[in-house]
Amino acid sequence: MLWVGTSWKMNGTIDFAREYAWRLMAADASQWEGIQAFIIPPATALDAVRGVLGDNGPILLGAQNAHWEDSGAWTGEVSVPQVADAGAQMVEVGHSERRQHFGDSDEVVNLKVRAIIGHGLRPVLCIGEPAEVFEAGRSIEYITAQADSALQGVDPSSVILAYEPIWAIGEHGREPRRSDLVRAFAALGERYSSDVTAVVYGGSVNAGNAADLLTIPGVEGLFVGRAAWRVPGYLEILRIASRSLRA
Ligand code: 13P
Repeated sequence: MLWVGTSWKMNGTIDFAREYAWRLMAADASQWEGIQAFIIPPATALDAVRGVLGDNGPILLGAQNAHWEDSGAWTGEVSVPQVADAGAQMVEVGHSERRQHFGDSDEVVNLKVRAIIGHGLRPVLCIGEPAEVFEAGRSIEYITAQADSALQGVDPSSVILAYEPIWAIGEHGREPRRSDLVRAFAALGERYSSDVTAVVYGGSVNAGNAADLLTIPGVEGLFVGRAAWRVPGYLEILRIASRSLRA
């Protein structure tokens, strides 16, 4: 099975989210046979999306972030039990945008991973190196250090490990070539594949490169931003992923 999901980042109203979920649920799921789909809307839309997807539906629901404490004087934060209460089954953690802009250190990422797993939710653990580390040929040591630190003291079996090189993410990112990723995925596969649920790729994934990315040994799914922010875009990538299983 491949895991193919999307995070909407800080985009979308509750109405948009509900409509997106309706359109996904209305689509013929046989198009993405063999794929575990998951969507990660903003926290404000979790409950509304849960209302459409249902608690045991074919599409999993995730939160983009959660604090490591269950409750308390942490103004502006939401906890793992709170996002679970709103319907989240997964929680994204360690995304480079959180590490860069909100100071989510390796230590914080580990605390969050512990909390997510402790509450029985599934972490989508993001790791990735900046351009200068990639150019210096030190990607593997950088991302394995991030992953090892994040996974310290936990049973990693429920983790989706998402390798998202920072230089490939977002509108200023560079679309990766297959050759940019082969060595990293060989290393991640060897080190983590048998312990985690799946190792997936994220960063400028689109309908044009998805099939090629899925041929990289060790890639067990895709984590998509911009190209899946509209339902037809996400459906297209789901179909491509499903076809790749039969290729
Ligand atoms: P893009 O697909 O827009 O580059 O974003 C990737 C990402 O950060 C998913 O979490």
